[in-house]
Amino acid sequence: MAETGSLPVHIGIIMDGNGRWARQRGLRRSAGHRAGIRAIRQAMSAADEAGVHCLTLYAFSTENWSRPRYEVATLMRLFEETLQEEVDELHQNGVRIRVIGRRAQLSARLRRLVADAEARTAGNLKGQLTVAINYGGRAEIVDAVRSLAGSGVDLAALDEPTLEGALYTAGLPDPDLIIRTAGEMRTSNFLIWQAAYAELYVTQTLWPDFGAADLRAALAEYAARVRRFGGIVEGR
Ligand code: IPE
Ligand code: IPE
Ligand code: MG
Repeated sequence: MAETGSLPVHIGIIMDGNGRWARQRGLRRSAGHRAGIRAIRQAMSAADEAGVHCLTLYAFSTENWSRPRYEVATLMRLFEETLQEEVDELHQNGVRIRVIGRRAQLSARLRRLVADAEARTAGNLKGQLTVAINYGGRAEIVDAVRSLAGSGVDLAALDEPTLEGALYTAGLPDPDLIIRTAGEMRTSNFLIWQAAYAELYVTQTLWPDFGAADLRAALAEYAARVRRFGGIVEGR
């Protein structure tokens, strides 16, 4: 059960610090978000080179709607632009794209781009990129229970595999490693069910500055961790 020296199969990333990165440079927060998109490309290729082919990126939380309207609009526009620009290449590289979160509040355009990207890449097996947009772990659990209730499952007999199968992430392995940039030591409602036994790695690096060396540092620390899953590991 316990393992060391290994590579995570699935990494979740809480991409935080875009605003601080911009403020340090006297730029608007939107410039930080644009720089954050560039960092995504770096992180994806570094992960791929290291042999990690399953990534989940936290892009917008259910709580992020409380930000100024202008900032929310900028982020949504960036998601639309990025999806449109990147899908071809991701598809060529055999990456399956999925978006998790409550879709109803997204623009019709973004919903269409997401549905197209998911449909086009559904058969890809080389990598999995999941982007959490209007995602909240609590909302996800509520949505899962609602959908089970709606499909007639006996909730009094609910068990963990059944609930898991109704989460947005059904079919994805649980994340082994959660990376958070910009220093905050909290999950901010990201994959709260799935990350129950994930290793947490927090770096002070702000997301737009996160590069291949930062990813390798996270992987090195992960490899040195002892995962016990509640059990006992002799000698450790
Ligand atoms: C992360 O950067 C991006 C999103 C949450 C959308 P922030 O915008 O939270 O940056 P800080 O935390 O203000 O520096
Ligand atoms: C978490 O960052 C959400 C995303 C990275 C999308 P926040 O900046 O929203 O988190 P808090 O507010 O510091 O907890
Ligand atoms: Mg933040």
